Amino acid sequence: MKLDKIRVGIIGTGRISGLHAIEYVNNPHAEIVALCDRDLNLAAECAKAWGVPQATLCEDYRQLLALDTVDLVEILVPHHLHKPIALAAIAAGKALSLQKPMCMNLDDATEVIDAAAIAKVPFKVFENFIFYPPVMKAKSLIDEGAIGEPLTIRIKSNPGKSKTAWAIPAAAAAWRQDKSQAGGGPLVFDDGHHKFALAWHFMGQAEEVHAWIGETTAPDGFVFDAPALISFKFPNNRYGNLEVVYSPELEIVTRHYAQDDRVEITGTKGVIWINQGHGALGSPAPVSLYRDGAMTEFSGMETGWEASFVHSTRHFIHALRTGQPPKLSGEEGREVLKFTLAAQQSARLGRAVSI
Ligand SMILES: NC(=O)c1ccc[n+]([C@@H]2O[C@H](COP(=O)([O-])OP(=O)(O)OC[C@H]3O[C@@H](n4cnc5c(N)ncnc54)[C@H](O)[C@@H]3O)[C@@H](O)[C@H]2O)c1
Repeated sequence: MKLDKIRVGIIGTGRISGLHAIEYVNNPHAEIVALCDRDLNLAAECAKAWGVPQATLCEDYRQLLALDTVDLVEILVPHHLHKPIALAAIAAGKALSLQKPMCMNLDDATEVIDAAAIAKVPFKVFENFIFYPPVMKAKSLIDEGAIGEPLTIRIKSNPGKSKTAWAIPAAAAAWRQDKSQAGGGPLVFDDGHHKFALAWHFMGQAEEVHAWIGETTAPDGFVFDAPALISFKFPNNRYGNLEVVYSPELEIVTRHYAQDDRVEITGTKGVIWINQGHGALGSPAPVSLYRDGAMTEFSGMETGWEASFVHSTRHFIHALRTGQPPKLSGEEGREVLKFTLAAQQSARLGRAVSI
């Protein structure tokens, strides 16, 4: 791999690809050299929009993987294609960044991890929420002891409506409604990965999960796996939960998805709040801390949700150049997937599930 300038191929130039492109375009140690989408017009539009008109355009991912000008591939396709395209990329000897959830089940995840290890290709599961600047700020405060020992985590996903949100292509909504392509519901399995990753990031792996997952149809016919309530038990008498609720008339301030995310972590001597994610309710301070009788608000950090993609990608470029392990590693991605799948299984069975 040419470490001074990592040559990147992107497979899947749909809705989310523009946020991945930002850092590859701006980082002096990377350049986008190839784009693939089964809709070639879309790939061509992205090449133009991202200022990489020289990029090779491919309709079939096998064409992109055959290019010896590509060092690293970013896989941004519907979930059922993660495994076959990841295995093909590994067989082609490419370094790999694979969007979450890495696969639709644990056996497939293990197959991809093992294949990458045997081929000795660098492999990252792309999880951006842990690189969102307010999340990084909260983590560093907690690591410095700001709230004492963390005891519980409470996470809320709250989609609504938004005048400012980006448009979601009909095709991107359609595959998310098909379990054979998505692997699970849009809020608990797909977006839920981010929330389980946050729980794992702050508290470690859960040992037991108990979930209720309901269903609500939006005015446009999109079916949400909400309301949902998922409780988790961590080792050493620590707990957490994820509440997912769709509020059809709640106006969300965002440039991306019409959704607000909020996190509260309670410790032995303080409480920390992360007050925004995809979007926000108004303009709250991104992070607040209560301890010793006083509330402190932290602002002055990047809060656009795209920053989570920028920092995650920057981290991977740095990891590739220094040989440090990427975050998430394949094994870490599999841990988060376990958490996500346990929630689906618990709701189906109507009882708690051990992880
Ligand atoms: N990290 C995040 O916050 C985040 C947010 C949104 C989506 N995602 C993930 O990104 C991935 C893509 O999601 P999206 O919202 O951009 O979906 P999308 O439907 O907008 O984009 C997927 C693209 O893949 C293309 N495609 C499908 N099959 C293909 C094939 N065989 N070969 C080449 N191209 C093919 C489609 O034409 C489409 O352009 C998913 O894994 C999703 O979970 C992550």
